[in-house]
Amino acid sequence: MIYTITLNPALDHYLEVDDLRVDDANRVKSECLYAGGKGIDVSRAIRHLGGDSMALGFIGGHDGQVMVALLKAEGVNCYFTPIARETRRDIIICNRACGTQTMLNTRGPSVTREEWEAFLAHLRVLGLRDAYVVIAGSLPLGVPPDAYRQIVGLVQRQGAKAILDADGPCLKAGLKAKPFAIKPNLNELRRVTGRPLRTDADILEAAMALQRAGVEIVMVSRGRQGLLLVSRSDCYRAIPPSVKVRSTVGAGDSTVAGFVFRHAGGKSLEDCVRFATASGTAATLAPGNQLCRLRDVQRLAPRVRITRLSD
Ligand SMILES: Nc1ncnc2c1ncn2[C@@H]1O[C@H](COP(=O)(O)OP(=O)(O)OP(=O)(O)O)[C@@H](O)[C@H]1O
Ligand SMILES: [Mg+2]
Repeated sequence: MIYTITLNPALDHYLEVDDLRVDDANRVKSECLYAGGKGIDVSRAIRHLGGDSMALGFIGGHDGQVMVALLKAEGVNCYFTPIARETRRDIIICNRACGTQTMLNTRGPSVTREEWEAFLAHLRVLGLRDAYVVIAGSLPLGVPPDAYRQIVGLVQRQGAKAILDADGPCLKAGLKAKPFAIKPNLNELRRVTGRPLRTDADILEAAMALQRAGVEIVMVSRGRQGLLLVSRSDCYRAIPPSVKVRSTVGAGDSTVAGFVFRHAGGKSLEDCVRFATASGTAATLAPGNQLCRLRDVQRLAPRVRITRLSD
């Protein structure tokens, strides 16, 4: 079973305009609502790939209910811990004239100590032996700064594999509990190591250092340069085919989805890295904040070039 955790989800309101005029009235040409947040994106992408997962996290108020309804309509299972405050709503304005996306992200609700404890209590009774738990995104106000250390520790003590996709202090805190896997992008890797990482060798060395420090699988995503995967015994570099990129939003989440879906399916690491890279690149073919589509992943996967760096 695959679980995803999104502590700070959002209802994304996506609006398209012909040519955005600031300080003026704009006619909206199309709009839609999505359930958003990084863990939720991973759950949705897994669904696109033909798999199942269970989305966990906090929701509150009317927008929280709308989010659940949207997820259910997409066939995504979820069990959120209720909170008193309203789930945040993010606005994404897509300007058709120049293809830009302007995002207005709110801070989101704060979570009380009791709500945080209720979430942890729910995690404790799930029976996570042999499960995969993807933990992704930022922390809401009110949860302790070491939330990801607590969650990684709690789920792994139950026999699950934690996959952490976070940035800055959240990633640093989570690393203390030695998650099974992490997927930083290059900037996240720079921030977590505090080093500029200018060359391929620097990046590889930084990933290997994190692996030696206790993370079984370190995946570094590098935009169009693909994915580097380091484990104790293997090291792969995956380069995607060059494609016409429409939007890179959600590429990293699709990468994580591709990896966990194949790993949970018992596939080899080489297959996982190929599929993860194809899933990330597939997400760039779709406009706006849309995630990977299965037919694109299947078409791209055989064209991903894999080099084995070890031995
Ligand atoms: N320009 C591109 N061309 C081809 N593939 C791309 C491109 N940008 C991203 N990808 C694919 O998506 C994967 C993840 O991209 P990236 O490194 O940008 O993740 P990220 O920064 O974590 O993204 P996110 O904003 O979703 O968190 C890459 O490993 C690659 O497979
Ligand atoms: Mg990312």
